[in-house]
Amino acid sequence: MIDVIEEVEVNPLVEGLRVRRRPDPCLLVIFGASGDLTSKKLMPALYSLAFRGLLPERFGIVGAARSEETDDAFRERMKQAVSEHARDPFKQEVWDELAKGLRYVTLDFADEHGEDTLRDTLNELDKELGTLGNRVYYFAVPPSAIGTLIDEIAKRRGAQGWLRLIIEKPFGHDLTSARALTAEIQEHFSESEVFRIDHYLGKETVQNMLALRFANGIFEPIWNRQFIDHVQITVAESIGIEGRAGYYEQAGAIRDIFQNHLLQLVAVTAMEPPVDFSADSVRNEKVKVLKAIHTPGPKHVVRGQYGRGFVEGEEVVAYREEDGVAPGTMTETFVAAKLYVDNWRWADTPFYVRMGKRLARRETTIAIQFKRAPHPPFEDGSSETLRPNVLLIHVQPNEGVSLAIGAKVPGQGMAIRTVHMDFLYGGAFREGLPDAYERLILDAMLGDATLFTRSDEIEEQWALVDAIVAFWQRDRPSFPNYASGTWGPASSDELLHRDGRSWRRH
Ligand code: BG6
Repeated sequence: MIDVIEEVEVNPLVEGLRVRRRPDPCLLVIFGASGDLTSKKLMPALYSLAFRGLLPERFGIVGAARSEETDDAFRERMKQAVSEHARDPFKQEVWDELAKGLRYVTLDFADEHGEDTLRDTLNELDKELGTLGNRVYYFAVPPSAIGTLIDEIAKRRGAQGWLRLIIEKPFGHDLTSARALTAEIQEHFSESEVFRIDHYLGKETVQNMLALRFANGIFEPIWNRQFIDHVQITVAESIGIEGRAGYYEQAGAIRDIFQNHLLQLVAVTAMEPPVDFSADSVRNEKVKVLKAIHTPGPKHVVRGQYGRGFVEGEEVVAYREEDGVAPGTMTETFVAAKLYVDNWRWADTPFYVRMGKRLARRETTIAIQFKRAPHPPFEDGSSETLRPNVLLIHVQPNEGVSLAIGAKVPGQGMAIRTVHMDFLYGGAFREGLPDAYERLILDAMLGDATLFTRSDEIEEQWALVDAIVAFWQRDRPSFPNYASGTWGPASSDELLHRDGRSWRRH
């Protein structure tokens, strides 16, 4: 990562506001500008960057999508999106500055005409804004649309300026399609020009895992199979599929979150210390973990699909009753698995992972459960309530870290109880946490790929998912098998009970 060279605030509690250099002047093109991602995430993130003065001094945004829309209508829609979804208050002067360089181009991906209009608009904006031919193309479109766009961009690449491609997940649908997409991209562009987004890597708390492990001397010596009994990673969502049936029916939980966010959390937890924080060093270590993950047998992977139930007090429909979902669909909305990372550090240490929609509440955590103290020399029964030490990383919500330790209950005798030492972001740093997209868009503009996934990581992730999906073809579990608002199917609990363990108490 690039060194901090400038600070906008002097308050030491506001570390999150530290900026590095401003990116070079450039134009950002968003393909898929009429989609939810653009209005809920990308524009609000760009607004927050503008709010903090972190965008390039000379900068423009061009939205591109199939639907017909004028520049003014697009600006108005984006203004609404920003006022609704940005984490910062709406300020007219910030918006006006951003909206000055905002344009819209109607683009049918199959029609070359649109591509020419886009190129002409970009060239005009270069002259108007002084953006020097530098381009960032953001692909918020399905993987099938990327190939054609890539070819067209390559054909029209000007002689001036740098170019970066930010590609949203899913990157392909399986190993074969991901490789084909990589080959198509590499025909025209180098790996250093490609930024594959996994927005979990942009989350502060995920990066804090790296800080926790590698900026502190006390954790690394015990971060291994000798001291750690097992690891539990949970990515639980209370929301359903939010009207995305078309996408979700194809993806399912395994492609939507397991293949990317969840495996990246495993990689960040299990990786060796990188020699430095350059993109290649960090990604070299992560890919070793992904390579070392043993394909779990069918008994070690559980899938589920939500039925009706109550989530946060509200009655919700079953997955099969959601709009656009086939009544008898076998698409999974929950996956739990027991994974092993086969290397010297982790051999025989299970990583239990689970993720799903319509679970009891939104919670992403990484729990490192240490082995029990070998011999507590206290009174009989005094340590019965003593649980093993757990280091719990709250990725979201209530972002922070907590360490469960045994402490003496005040009074006579030596009764021991588990207590928690907590670090909460809200208490330690006053600044609210930036959205992952703010960090990632800025990093891509700066050309820093550390928090983006490399093609070899994606391929390892797909290889594992393909193997799991292959044995799923052989049986048909009876779905739905968990009620909305619970913690998933009973088989998920059994996965741990068989090993004499259980999921962390909620
Ligand atoms: C996306 C998935 O990648 O991540 C969604 O496609 C999911 O289905 C979302 O809801 C979760 O992201 P976050 O940041 O809310 O945890």
